[in-house]
Amino acid sequence: MTLARAWSVALVGVQGHAVEIEADLNNGIPGLTMIGLPDAALAESRDRIKAAILNSGEQWPNQRITLALSPASMPKRGSSFDVALAAAVLAANGALPGDALVGRVLLGELGLDGRVRGVPGVLPAVLSATRFGFERFVVPVDNLAEARLVPGASVIGVASLRSLVRVLRGEDDGDEPADRQQSAQAAPPADLVDVAGQPEGRTAIEVAAAGGHHLFLLGPPGAGKTMLAERLPGILPPLSLDEALEVTAIHSVAARLPTSEPLISTPPFQDPHHNATVAAIVGGGSGIAKPGAACLAHRGVLFLDEAPQFASAVLDALRQPLEKGWVSIARAAGTAVYPSRFSLVMAANPCPCARPDKGCTCPAEKRRRYMSRLSGPLLDRVDLRVSIPRVTRAEMLAEDGRGEPSAAVASRVAVARETAAQRYAGTPWRTNNDVPPTQLRRLWPISRTATAKADEALDKGQITARGYGRILRVAWTLADLQGVGTPGAAQIGLALGYRTGFVTQTLAA
Ligand SMILES: Nc1ncnc2c1ncn2[C@@H]1O[C@H](COP(=O)(O)OP(=O)(O)OP(=O)(O)O)[C@@H](O)[C@H]1O
Ligand SMILES: [Mg+2]
Ligand SMILES: [Zn+2]
Repeated sequence: MTLARAWSVALVGVQGHAVEIEADLNNGIPGLTMIGLPDAALAESRDRIKAAILNSGEQWPNQRITLALSPASMPKRGSSFDVALAAAVLAANGALPGDALVGRVLLGELGLDGRVRGVPGVLPAVLSATRFGFERFVVPVDNLAEARLVPGASVIGVASLRSLVRVLRGEDDGDEPADRQQSAQAAPPADLVDVAGQPEGRTAIEVAAAGGHHLFLLGPPGAGKTMLAERLPGILPPLSLDEALEVTAIHSVAARLPTSEPLISTPPFQDPHHNATVAAIVGGGSGIAKPGAACLAHRGVLFLDEAPQFASAVLDALRQPLEKGWVSIARAAGTAVYPSRFSLVMAANPCPCARPDKGCTCPAEKRRRYMSRLSGPLLDRVDLRVSIPRVTRAEMLAEDGRGEPSAAVASRVAVARETAAQRYAGTPWRTNNDVPPTQLRRLWPISRTATAKADEALDKGQITARGYGRILRVAWTLADLQGVGTPGAAQIGLALGYRTGFVTQTLAA
């Protein structure tokens, strides 16, 4: 055979596109030409596939070789086409049976010695390819576990070009990952039981979890803001399989998956440092942009500790995901779109001096300037604003100072979420924070007596019309948590408090 065809997948964001690779051999001057928008990494794969083929005991055709990747218009980046390119050359040279490559997607990078190396994005590549009809895959053995997560995909792992050749000749069924030592016992997830006192803070994260609301924790150093934020994922419901695959796909593109147990089934937690760049937060890099922390936090929590210290460009860049639930990043090579729907938790000290309450003697103006670094539009989306005072020594030392465990809080959150989900059955919305305020008011009206306090605040200009709608959403979450059906004056009042001022109240009160 002098013409052979192999299949691979090009990723743009988490979206995969089938790429057909044709190898043609003819009797011109020996050499290798590649066509179809190859980038620099692809050009280097020319040398890798030749060395890998020779070092695997196979023959390199002493002919004129043309490798074409199509569709040509599809941006193709990186090294994950190596294996498919090498297989196409071998098939064209008659080293593989004629039907070996039919209906099979091949992914992986080659080392010069013929080793097959893992590549980022195998999960979304396989997931996409099954949607356009492929069922059989050969992937690097390091990516085998993630590829096998995809329902309906029949996946073989290979560690080397030699084993790929054996697989494609039907002599072998691939490699399995070497037995890893029992991974060190993972540290138990942070539990609310360890948080002493802080009844308002605890209630606030419960409300945030139940309604999908964003949260701002304001308080002096060492009060437990970080402790509380870290415990939010632990009271959110575990991800469904579809959600877990979606989240795992994003982490796969970022090459952040553990090899052995790759499925991310609990809500992720991302806490970028305040020096982080826009690219690190929303995504970026050359070629097709990689996902940033806001995308890696999809269906989980994005925590900005010392929020006013983040660059204003970073804070502004969060507006797109907060509004749309996704991020799109344009590059010359193509526009990547990543889902990015997270609970935003911001924490801050009241003053940049970060001295404990009484130690701060800074002018009020300095504190005001510090808070004003958080842009209006960003803060406007944060419906729960809570003061976290320092815990007293008595609270810390109290015999019953240990708080309620996360499991107990999580079960209330689950019930409240279920109540909301039933109310929104048949709509695209699941949590209260998903519902556009105007629709919420129209479809689930609340009596005038109940909303009196919020109406008054609106009349007095203490809140904006947008803020008013957002108060209703929080009031619904409070009602769902308390099991009272439609919100009444109590829930509206508390929701108003959460919005306008760093409340000091709990649900039980
Ligand atoms: N409510 C609390 N219950 C138990 N331990 C606490 C509490 N608050 C603080 N601590 C202890 O203090 C440490 C610091 O808490 P944490 O980092 O959450 O404070 P913070 O409010 O985020 O402070 P900073 O503003 O400096 O970031 C914790 O690791 C914990 O040991
Ligand atoms: Mg902290
Ligand atoms: Zn100060």
